[in-house]
Amino acid sequence: MRELIFATNNKHKLEEVSQLLLGKVKITSLAEAGLEGEIPETADTLQGNALQKAQWVWERTGKDCFADDTGLEVEALGGAPGVYSARYAGEHCSFDDNVNKLLENMQGKTNRNAAFRTVICLIENGQPRYFEGKVEGCILTERYGKGGFGYDPIFMPDRFAVSFAEMPLEVKNQISHRGLAVKQLVQYLDPAKHPPEP
Ligand code: IMP
Repeated sequence: MRELIFATNNKHKLEEVSQLLLGKVKITSLAEAGLEGEIPETADTLQGNALQKAQWVWERTGKDCFADDTGLEVEALGGAPGVYSARYAGEHCSFDDNVNKLLENMQGKTNRNAAFRTVICLIENGQPRYFEGKVEGCILTERYGKGGFGYDPIFMPDRFAVSFAEMPLEVKNQISHRGLAVKQLVQYLDPAKHPPEP
């Protein structure tokens, strides 16, 4: 089975992606790869951040690896927080701080349309390649559910009547931005379509 290092310190992302890649790709965490420290993400695009995170691992290990970067794009806020979703309420803020700030900024807004977008950067033999996934939905007026992470309690995907935080992980993974991007990664890695290089 192919082995890839996943460049994330986010245990929720690791759990989601591990479930999606189960039996298809063996994921190595940063800890298992002997890497520690904060991975920089200072670019101003999702693609740039995904590349920066994957490159951080590639430069230290020379092993095939991937990273994801995700943004929540809210129509009424002109696409914010977007690429700045992690630091929306300031440097070193918590998931809760970010949710509070978004709920505050959305007070009184009737247009609640939003989308999560994920870009995955795979570095294979030193070459980057990108995969993207997007899910549309709306921002709720308060938190619902205890599952998931980040903005999950206030995001309800289209065609569902519950927030991401109220769904079992398997359901979120089937429809989510990250799930869709990982599906494309899996398709690309399918040895029938893309034989590994010797
Ligand atoms: P990053 O990809 O780790 O930079 O994520 C940016 C921000 O979006 C972080 O604050 C995450 O909590 C949030 N985020 C990323 N993925 C998800 C998700 O699947 N659901 C909810 N929030 C997310």
